[in-house]
Amino acid sequence: MTTIQLPDVTVTMTLVATLQASLPHFGRMIDQCGHPAPALRQLGLVHWENGRFDAAAQCFAAALSLAPQNPDLWRDLASVTSAADRDDEALTAIRTSLDLDPLNAQSWQTLAGVADRLDDVETAEDAYRRTIALKPEAAAAHLGLGLLLFRKKRYDDALTAVRASIAHDPVNGLAHYALGHLSFIVSDFAGCARAFDEAARLTLPLDPPTRQKRARALTFQAMIEGSVQDALRDYAEIAGEDREDLEIIARDAFSVLSAAGHLETAAEIGRLRLAEKPNDPVRRYLLDAVLGRAMTAAPMEYIETYFDQFAPQFDSKLLETLQYEAPCRMAQLVAGHRTGFRTMLDLGCGTGLAAAELQPLGTSLVGVDLSAGMLAEAARRGGYAELVKAEAVAYLKASQNRFDLVFAADSLIYFGDLGPLLRAAAGALVPGGLFVLSIELAAGEGFTLQPSGRFAHSLEHIRSTATDFVVLETVESRIRLEAGRPVPGLYVLLERR
Ligand SMILES: C[S@@+](CC[C@H](N)C(=O)[O-])C[C@H]1O[C@@H](n2cnc3c(N)ncnc32)[C@H](O)[C@@H]1O
Repeated sequence: MTTIQLPDVTVTMTLVATLQASLPHFGRMIDQCGHPAPALRQLGLVHWENGRFDAAAQCFAAALSLAPQNPDLWRDLASVTSAADRDDEALTAIRTSLDLDPLNAQSWQTLAGVADRLDDVETAEDAYRRTIALKPEAAAAHLGLGLLLFRKKRYDDALTAVRASIAHDPVNGLAHYALGHLSFIVSDFAGCARAFDEAARLTLPLDPPTRQKRARALTFQAMIEGSVQDALRDYAEIAGEDREDLEIIARDAFSVLSAAGHLETAAEIGRLRLAEKPNDPVRRYLLDAVLGRAMTAAPMEYIETYFDQFAPQFDSKLLETLQYEAPCRMAQLVAGHRTGFRTMLDLGCGTGLAAAELQPLGTSLVGVDLSAGMLAEAARRGGYAELVKAEAVAYLKASQNRFDLVFAADSLIYFGDLGPLLRAAAGALVPGGLFVLSIELAAGEGFTLQPSGRFAHSLEHIRSTATDFVVLETVESRIRLEAGRPVPGLYVLLERR
């Protein structure tokens, strides 16, 4: 922690004498307070109010040289040094203030703000929560906590905090603005539009992306409550100059509303979209998924078309928006048991996110995928001895005893019955070889096609179909976010008998 050097008392007294001589008001303040420290603090506050942060910090430091046990002075020093972008000093000052007075809500809030600026999330969250425990009506602390949790993509907790802030201070436009964005993420479209309207009423007009989101929210809500066609027809008028391509609105409405569980509305949109392009394999398959049609795997032409289109945005969408971390977590799971693999297979390698994780575990890595677009991204990323465009089961069947590790991150979600794939994987592995995979967890037994177009499996289904394997370890984890909420999943490590 940075140390703060306070001026020597004699230096401070010389400053006090100079100020007394040049500022009559300062002299009167000393007379009133009977001590120079409060007068220096008052002068510091005046500098602070006028944006002269360095001058204010100098006054507070001088006052502290005369009254080093005063926690309020330390907090003032923390606030102005933070305002002057000297956050390390601010941290030392506010910690000193809290050592002297640990039950001061304002000081905890100052610490929260400083730690938040320093991106020390743990300290900031803890400090916001302590502020709130000491002063439950501290609306700014609730909001600070809400915005921090929003940035950390903990959307439900963020919503609770932002709502608490609004309950204590209903006229803060920023809180309504945050509520609008959060409500959209968790698919509360009516709440989103209401919050944005309130934010606009209380503060400034909304920025164009927010106005677009408001128009989407009103349109999605109208689709849920009435007819999809009417809502699409009215969209242009609602969005005005911010309107987006209607095709994109319909596509996004379909995926957002199916993820949010509005399956009838999503099916209505899906039928309209399929009628426009009856031969589109993506539109057909996703409508089938929303309608709950029985299927044993996603069709190959869907996989190819969908991932070819998705490839350029895949990494940013998965890593930033959806918080996807399966490759890293699965590599850790494997490394906990064994390393030093000779030949490794990344099955459904996609853009190659796993390559960097797998490199330390073995010598040679092969990537296999159906989508040429995804393989092109993997080639750009590098790390593979060979990249092959092939269907997973067909490739495995042709690779007898070739691999000592098979790695399938987020790719078995496109298979229903895992029996054929697990048998083919057993054939492709050397005896004792490892197979690590991720699944989305099904609520019941067996497997189920979800409205997202991805399959979810039970551990029971894996156990009953992986007859050539021993289950070495399973780890429950969230796979990614969907509609702002974690998707429950499982990493499974199997050993070939
Ligand atoms: C969600 S991505 C995951 C990519 C990568 N494993 C990762 O963790 O980033 C699923 C990948 O599996 C591929 N895939 C799905 N079904 C496949 C199949 N039957 N054969 C080969 N690849 C398949 C898709 O093309 C896509 O690239």
